[in-house]
Amino acid sequence: MKILVLHGINLNMFGKRDPAQYGTVTLAEIDQRVRTLGKELGTEVECFQTNHEGEMCERIHKAHEEGFHGVIINAGAWTHYSYGIRDALAILKAPIVEVHMSNVHAREPFRHVSVFADVVKGQICGFGAESYLLALRAAVAAA
Ligand code: DQA
Repeated sequence: MKILVLHGINLNMFGKRDPAQYGTVTLAEIDQRVRTLGKELGTEVECFQTNHEGEMCERIHKAHEEGFHGVIINAGAWTHYSYGIRDALAILKAPIVEVHMSNVHAREPFRHVSVFADVVKGQICGFGAESYLLALRAAVAAA
């Protein structure tokens, strides 16, 4: 089995940005934890981060051809307004798990909306780095 983990805009700054919301864990550490759990669960994990919306769409298009069994996405702020990424995700046949470190529903109103909500299998938010590990378990269970 292979699972693709997609990180969007500004997530490369985890560790440095707003520790009250995101803690001090870096994206590299998150990827390492996800890969380690992947090994335990018997799945290969590929991680990708970009700050460019078109590049994210192109990575999703490529994933369509690559036979991933599941996709995990934290698109950062794009979650709340990017119809381009939403439409790209809608093309995928594999189950998609939307993930957020923070509890987006306990924050500013613009974060309460996810334009991906109806094209993903489910959403996990509010558990910090642990959100990704829960998302991996969910993606493996859904695959
Ligand atoms: C986030 C929540 C988003 O609202 C925000 O724009 C992010 C990170 C999270 O992981 O909690 O960049 O997706």
